[in-house]
Amino acid sequence: MPQILDGKIVREEIFANLKPRLAAVQAKLGRPPGLAVVLVGEDPASKQYVQNKIKGCADLGICSRKVAPAATISTEQLLKELDKLNHDPAIDAILVQMPLPKQVDSRKVLEAVAPGKDADGFHPLNVGHLVAGRPAPRACTPAGIMEMLKYYRIAVDGRKAAVVGRSDIIGKPMALLLLQANATVTVCHSRTPNLAEECHRADIIVAAIGKPALITADFIRRGATVIDVGTSRITDRAEAERLGRANEFAQKGAAWVGDVNPVDVEKVAGAYSPVPGGVGPLTIAMLMSNTVQLAEQHG
Ligand code: GUN
Repeated sequence: MPQILDGKIVREEIFANLKPRLAAVQAKLGRPPGLAVVLVGEDPASKQYVQNKIKGCADLGICSRKVAPAATISTEQLLKELDKLNHDPAIDAILVQMPLPKQVDSRKVLEAVAPGKDADGFHPLNVGHLVAGRPAPRACTPAGIMEMLKYYRIAVDGRKAAVVGRSDIIGKPMALLLLQANATVTVCHSRTPNLAEECHRADIIVAAIGKPALITADFIRRGATVIDVGTSRITDRAEAERLGRANEFAQKGAAWVGDVNPVDVEKVAGAYSPVPGGVGPLTIAMLMSNTVQLAEQHG
């Protein structure tokens, strides 16, 4: 059985380290750090993510403000909302929940968040800082995964890592953070030939491609660390049973699985961050960390 990498434990550690910094910055500013969360439209998954982020703020003592325009908002109207937040002295950090509706130009929106208030590290200037290895807000999920590897003392320096998925939100920043930590990094994606072979060479696999249970036993070198970032909803009973989710399916009529086959990984991995309970809690913890850091810079 692999060592289970528990995101909730790492989150508690991150929160504990943030508390004194939060108190200090609050004393300096005369107000708590402020995070604005922009949620466009009614997408149920996005609403749930935003609710979790707002709860994270409340748990820690960060002041959150939800801005929730209708799904029909135009790019120009959304840019005006962001301009107001950019100039609001009570707001230290801004997050625009992705994805945005089709009529909105996402690139323009991400570029409109002031780089000094960029809670997600998605602004091109901050992406550039990441590429250059300079301090700046980092994308929350990849940054959380680095904290998890550190907490569980999983060596990265000199090891081989395979990142499966090349999204701007996870795959690309993840690869850059691992590279910065001196891993030899392979970025795999939907057009990679011999995906199993590429993954099998790796000491660390980060799976973020959004294909349920894609990573099977033949992808995983014995003893490797496997970090699952995917979340897919399985609505087929036989599939849920095959993936060891029979009880969950019986109770809820559906089951959540990641990109890693949860039955297979238990047989070969040395360490495993599961779905749920792995990286999920860390995304929020790192959002809080970025918010405190941005507030410190505004003080
Ligand atoms: N949508 C999915 N993940 C994320 C994230 O980390 N940040 C934002 N803003 N939107 C997302």
